[in-house]
Amino acid sequence: MKKTYSNKVVWVTGAASGIGKAVALEYAQRGATLVLSDRDVENLNKTVSACNDMGVPALAAPFDLAETTQIISAVETVLRTYPKIDILVCNGGISQRSYAIETPVAIDRRVMEINFFGTITLTKALLPALIAQGGGNISVTSSMTGKFGFPLRTAYCASKHAIQGFYEALRAELYNQNVKVTIVSPGRVRTNISLHAITKDGQEHGKMDDGQAGGITPEQCARRMVRAIERNKKELWVGSTEILMIYIRKYLSPLFHILARKIKPT
Ligand SMILES: NC(=O)c1ccc[n+]([C@@H]2O[C@H](COP(=O)([O-])OP(=O)(O)OC[C@H]3O[C@@H](n4cnc5c(N)ncnc54)[C@H](OP(=O)(O)O)[C@@H]3O)[C@@H](O)[C@H]2O)c1
Repeated sequence: MKKTYSNKVVWVTGAASGIGKAVALEYAQRGATLVLSDRDVENLNKTVSACNDMGVPALAAPFDLAETTQIISAVETVLRTYPKIDILVCNGGISQRSYAIETPVAIDRRVMEINFFGTITLTKALLPALIAQGGGNISVTSSMTGKFGFPLRTAYCASKHAIQGFYEALRAELYNQNVKVTIVSPGRVRTNISLHAITKDGQEHGKMDDGQAGGITPEQCARRMVRAIERNKKELWVGSTEILMIYIRKYLSPLFHILARKIKPT
C-alpha cells in the first residue's frame, strides 16, 4: 500500500479496541503518524506497538472521555509534540443495554457525558489549532441509532442523535475555515461494544449480542471510514442489510415503527 499519509498526523479516540483500533492500523498502513487515545491504557499501548511495528510513530494520549480536565490536558500535551493535527477521528464511546423505565438518570447522564460531552470537549479544544493551521478533517462516529430510536438504547440513541445535530451544525459553521466534518453512522460492526455496554446498574452488559456477532468486521468499517474522510464525505452509512432501516425509517415510517417494537433488540 502507498504511504500517502506519511506527512499527516491522525488522532483517533477509542483506539484500544474495535473500530478505533482498526482505523488506527488502516492509517498506519498508509504511513500516517498516529496520536491514539482511550481509557484502556493496556490495550491502547498494544495499538501503539502495532503501529510502531508497521514503521510509523504513534503517541499514546490516554484519557477518560468522561473527564474534561484529562481531555484538555491531553490536547495541550499532544499539541506540544504535534502542533498540526490533520485528521481527528472522534470514535470512542459506549453503548447501553437497559430499558428506560429501570435506568436511573445518572446512567443516562454517564452515556451522554462519554458519547456526547467528552467527544465535543475534545473537538472544541482542538478546533482553534485546526482553524489556525488552515483546516483539517474531523470524523465523528455516530450510529445508525443516531438516525432513529431503538429499544434498550434510549440514552445511547439520544447521545448519537445529539452527535448528528452538533456536528452537522459545526460543519456549516466551519465551511469557510476549511475544516471538513464526516459523520459516520455504522450499523452492526463485530466489536466488543455490546460486551462493554452499560446496564441499569452501571455494570457491563458482558454479552456478545447476536446482531453484533453477525456484523461487518471493524477492518471493513475502518477502510470505508478512511476513504470517506479522504473524500471529504459529509456522511457515511456503513454496515450490511441493517442500513436499510435508515431508509425504512425515512420513507416507510409506519413499517419502521412496527419493526422497531417487534425486532429482537440485541
Ligand atoms: N460496533 C458497532 O456495531 C457500532 C455501531 C454503531 C456505532 N458504533 C460506535 O463506534 C464507536 C466505536 O465502538 P466499537 O464498536 O469499536 O466498540 P469498542 O470495541 O468497545 O471500542 C470503543 C472504545 O471506546 C473506549 N471508551 C469507552 N468509554 C470510554 C471513556 N469513558 N473514555 C475513553 N475511552 C472510552 C472503549 O474503552 P473500554 O474498552 O475501556 O470500554 C473502547 O476501547 C463507538 O462510538 C460506538 O458507539 C459502534
